[in-house]
Amino acid sequence: MRKRILSGVQPSGKLHLGNYFGAIRQHIALQDEGECFFFIADYHALTTLREAEKAEADNPPPRGKPRKAAEILRDNVRDVALDYLALGLDPERTAFFRQSDVPEVCELAWLLSTVTSMGLLERAHSYKDKLARGITPTVGLFTYPVLMAADILIYRSNIVPVGQDQVQHLEMTRDMANYFNNSYGVNLFPLPQERLDAVATVPGIDGKKMSKSYGNTIEIFAEGKSLEKTVKSIVTDSTPVDQPKDPSKCNVMALYALFASPQEQEKLASLYRNPLEDADRRKGRPFGYGDAKMLLLDKINQYFAPFRERRKELAARTGYVEEVLRRGAERARAEARKTMELARQAVGMAGYPVA
Ligand code: ADP
Ligand code: TRP
Repeated sequence: MRKRILSGVQPSGKLHLGNYFGAIRQHIALQDEGECFFFIADYHALTTLREAEKAEADNPPPRGKPRKAAEILRDNVRDVALDYLALGLDPERTAFFRQSDVPEVCELAWLLSTVTSMGLLERAHSYKDKLARGITPTVGLFTYPVLMAADILIYRSNIVPVGQDQVQHLEMTRDMANYFNNSYGVNLFPLPQERLDAVATVPGIDGKKMSKSYGNTIEIFAEGKSLEKTVKSIVTDSTPVDQPKDPSKCNVMALYALFASPQEQEKLASLYRNPLEDADRRKGRPFGYGDAKMLLLDKINQYFAPFRERRKELAARTGYVEEVLRRGAERARAEARKTMELARQAVGMAGYPVA
């Protein structure tokens, strides 16, 4: 049997190079390895949506009014769907859908919550981290891992590609699958395994891990002047332009390496070490960080140009995104209902009520 691969992505704003090289690229490649289910986690997004609304109210966009929560969610779901489709998600092969279009998942979350101890959830790092940041938790934030377990188990998934921060949620999912199977003497849920996404951490323009929460990102679909401005603002050290520079300590170099061949990386490293190399091509000027940034900008533009074109094309097709998500949800929902039929029988309920 082909393995079933499932992952969810939170619709929480513009995707960046860290998301792409750390996660999305691998997710897209997995389409060749098994039967994929990818969804946009809009139920989960509700746990932080009001913070997003507040952040936008405090820091309004340059054009237009700050958006209300529901509008932010609608926009973000469409954006992330377009991003994935433009970057190569193939809706013919992969069931690509909006989490809330399969409401059965909330029902399974309830069944799981009745076999899961408070203690298990209280140990969740991501919950403890949010408490430590002073967030007043909702019940939804606390039970986030139960809904995530339901997402995974309802499709009886085998492999779940995620980042390191989600590994504990996968452990908890296996615990919940066991609690359910053992409580009711069934073997309904296979135990899913995580597949770690990122091999390396992509640095942001300030050298810390690239992350939306640090405001140090380079967006995948930025272009033109705004992309150029971001690339120019990458932080470098203060080595004078004509002095040798250390390629292993430079953010520009680290980002360039994501796009360039080993030969190209070696060439750039050599220019760092010998700023006067090929100086005649630069009218005698030594090679500085500004030149390296322009090489990086070219690489980003070349790499993402076809994806940007495709995104514009898809965005212009009226109803396209909705149609893809609707078809994806039909496939996902058929699977979810099969599992729920069995889960309901296992706990002693009638089978699934007729629609
Ligand atoms: P952010 O930190 O911007 O909020 P998320 O936590 O939403 O990003 O990350 C989504 C996925 O993208 C994660 O599973 C993680 O694997 C990947 N990712 C995010 N930032 C980076 C990064 N700087 N380097 C590598 N991978 C990253
Ligand atoms: N919690 C995941 C994140 O923040 C998103 C998510 C929700 C998910 N449900 C999932 C990931 C199920 C994998 C499987 O990135």
